[in-house]
Amino acid sequence: MVKFSRLLLGLPAVWMLAAAAAAADDVPAARGPGCATRCGDIDVPYPFGLDPQCAIHAGFQLNCTTVGRTTKLFHNNLEVIKLSVQDGKAWLKTWISRECYNQTTSGMLYGNYAWMNITGSPYVLSADDNKIIVLGCNSFAYMRSDSYIIGCLATCDVNIPPKNDSCSGTAGAGCCQVDLPKGVRVYQGFFNSLYNTTAIWRNTPCNYVTVMERAAFSFSTTYLTSSVFYDRDDSRSPVVMEWGITQKTCEAAKIDKNVPYACVSNYSECITNDAGYLCKCSRGFKGNPYIAGGCTDIDECQDKVTYPCAGICKNTVGGYNCSCSPGKSLINGVCEKKQKSVWMAPVVGGSVGLVVLVIAITCTYLIRERRKLHRIKQMYFRQHGGLLLFEEMKSQQGVAFKIFSEEELQQATNRFDEQHVIGHGGHGKVYKGVLKSDAEVAVKRCMTIDEQQRKEFGKEMLILSQINHKNIVKILGCCLEVEVPMLVYEFIPNGTLFDLIHGNHGKHISLGTRLRIAYESAEALAYLHSCASPPIIHGDVKSTNILLDGDYTAKVSDFGASILAPNDKSQFATLVQGTCGYLDPEYMQTCQLTDKSDVYSFGVVLLELLTRKKAFNLEGPEHEKSLSMRFLYAMKENKLENILDDQIKNNGNMDYLEEIAKLAWRCLEMSGLNRPSMKEVADKLDRLRKVIQHPWAHENSEELDSLLGEPPSMVSSAVTTESFSIAKKIAMGLESGR
Ligand SMILES: *[C@@H]1O[C@H](CO)[C@@H](O)[C@H](O)[C@H]1NC(C)=O
Ligand SMILES: *[C@@H]1O[C@H](CO)[C@@H](O)[C@H](O)[C@H]1NC(C)=O
Ligand SMILES: *[C@@H]1O[C@H](CO)[C@@H](O)[C@H](O)[C@H]1NC(C)=O
Ligand SMILES: *[C@@H]1O[C@H](CO)[C@@H](O)[C@H](O)[C@H]1NC(C)=O
Ligand SMILES: *[C@@H]1O[C@H](CO)[C@@H](O)[C@H](O)[C@H]1NC(C)=O
Ligand SMILES: *[C@@H]1O[C@H](CO)[C@@H](O)[C@H](O)[C@H]1NC(C)=O
Ligand SMILES: *[C@@H]1O[C@H](CO)[C@@H](O)[C@H](O)[C@H]1NC(C)=O
Repeated sequence: MVKFSRLLLGLPAVWMLAAAAAAADDVPAARGPGCATRCGDIDVPYPFGLDPQCAIHAGFQLNCTTVGRTTKLFHNNLEVIKLSVQDGKAWLKTWISRECYNQTTSGMLYGNYAWMNITGSPYVLSADDNKIIVLGCNSFAYMRSDSYIIGCLATCDVNIPPKNDSCSGTAGAGCCQVDLPKGVRVYQGFFNSLYNTTAIWRNTPCNYVTVMERAAFSFSTTYLTSSVFYDRDDSRSPVVMEWGITQKTCEAAKIDKNVPYACVSNYSECITNDAGYLCKCSRGFKGNPYIAGGCTDIDECQDKVTYPCAGICKNTVGGYNCSCSPGKSLINGVCEKKQKSVWMAPVVGGSVGLVVLVIAITCTYLIRERRKLHRIKQMYFRQHGGLLLFEEMKSQQGVAFKIFSEEELQQATNRFDEQHVIGHGGHGKVYKGVLKSDAEVAVKRCMTIDEQQRKEFGKEMLILSQINHKNIVKILGCCLEVEVPMLVYEFIPNGTLFDLIHGNHGKHISLGTRLRIAYESAEALAYLHSCASPPIIHGDVKSTNILLDGDYTAKVSDFGASILAPNDKSQFATLVQGTCGYLDPEYMQTCQLTDKSDVYSFGVVLLELLTRKKAFNLEGPEHEKSLSMRFLYAMKENKLENILDDQIKNNGNMDYLEEIAKLAWRCLEMSGLNRPSMKEVADKLDRLRKVIQHPWAHENSEELDSLLGEPPSMVSSAVTTESFSIAKKIAMGLESGR
């Protein structure tokens, strides 16, 4: 806790006695004669003052007002409850925002409306000492200023009732809290009115949001069910301010010609803080640095608790000297005779001391680390766009997307046990996990993330969460409170297409199955290219990224490399890494990833299905390493038959196989412009599939031709550049929350 100056009221020219008074703990006052130093119970140390001539400048003049029996201190209309010169802090009271249910309108009625505007004052809200608190059972509330919007969502859950002293922001807590940014002078509190609280109003009639001192808040479940939180201090809460003499840094203040530099005492220092600058007495000194001679030496020898000394203590200016009498020396903080021959005592004493010390250090360390961890988690959550995500998710009903905590995923995967690993990739590992609800999931944990991705993460999640296609692996949620966000997908039991094609399982895979898988994958990609908004380029299409469901339905997965189709050329991503054997050769020249790059990679997957050979084979002879090269060569030489898979090669099939090969060939065109769109590929595969299901078509080659022929003019699916307007949408959503 902070110590305050206790000044002698009405004693003129106290500052002359400053040195003498320094033996006590107090900060000496100093100002002209006749300046009051207290207002009611509150000390008003310089640079603050109650009269213009008593304060360092007008910003530090406070108003002491007595109404009836109570005397209160005010800065403009804000009540001041404490002032500290040592810490450069002031405690004020701010309003709590509240909205309560109104039965007449069966909606929430905006009650009090919290705001603060201390632009131009010496104060800023302390980012370290305050937080934004939101209470309620369906309460999305936020603080807003010119430059930021920050808030959180508090919910209740019948199954997990809120707990006292727990304001976690996880589901059911009834309370959530967020850190404040630095340097805030203006804010207003808002509620988002998206929620209908008709069902819950009887138990929890009101929602609250306020900025308040961390240390002064501890959650009680009664805050939800009654109005004690609001009423306990006349609908206000304490808030900690940092103050600065002027809104300048130390360097600027020292050369400022208009306002005199405030750190006038000898042995004082200047400190730049979020509000501007302030002064402190140097180490070993105490007092009021704003007054000439205000900082005086601390007599450490008088305070054995803070400055322990077992021997002879001697005060020096700015420090003290602790020594033992001649013939003795300091051992483990105790003066011992030097020539003492018994060695047991110091050794035992030393060991015990050491053990105690180690335990103490470990404990403090652990406590600190825990706190740090919590803050780091919150920071990551913010950095990764968690708030944006939350807001948008809640406004779009039916989006089954969850934000997981790190703990939940650790539990699900047995602390990321190696035995749970079901896949490796260039980007990281995929773990199988089982959630508390017994649902099986796949957790993707990436190795690294770059700064740009970090910022875009929340947005990207939003888009992926809205993708709903039966042939795309569904993303269930993510975990943002870790350095590299983790993704949670539905679990797909039957492995990858790669395993199916190249695995040693001895199963026969019919042409029909292969075509269906190809068709389903193509459909999924076509959907990403043309139906998603903004369009999505997968960027890493390959057989290991096509998963197979219980009944071997194809599910395209892994958007780790995917980019949202860029809006302008300068944004063309360079961060995508494809996989050898699948990579679009045009992309390697131009560094421009387009939807046609996916078409190329898909062409290679088609080849794998046709030939049961790997896309890239390091062992083979030079000209056989790349499957696409081998295939193109075979097509040129008219020797397609040589590389086709024996399992599907029979006389009745050749027409179909050739059709598929031609399609693959078109996909592998050197120039992206000449490749078909994913939609075209999917349509063609669909028609082939249907023909194979109805072999009668084969009898009539004319009908076959018409079935297999080119589709009526397909519009090339050049990427549309719809602008990405979630930010805008959110801004609008927030407006309506007022
Ligand atoms: C102090 O407060 C009183 C009552 O609110 C007001 O009349 C007076 O103008 C204030 N004085 C200053 C200097 O703000
Ligand atoms: C509820 O809303 C109605 C209509 O706006 C208003 O007249 C009434 O005073 C409100 N009730 C309360 C308790 O605020
Ligand atoms: C909230 O829902 C109830 C029914 O559950 C309905 O009667 C009421 O009009 C809704 N209120 C608002 C503000 O939409
Ligand atoms: C805050 O107050 C300053 C002047 O005191 C004014 O210029 C500014 O517009 C105010 N800001 C808001 C958001 O009210
Ligand atoms: C929380 O504490 C309050 C008293 O401070 C008590 O009335 C309430 O029942 C407690 N809630 C729980 C869930 O223990
Ligand atoms: C402060 O320092 C100046 C110069 O360093 C010196 O002349 C003066 O006596 C000092 N004042 C006090 C009160 O120690
Ligand atoms: C502390 O006192 C010892 C003995 O009086 C002396 O030798 C030493 O120089 C002093 N140290 C300081 C920093 O004054």
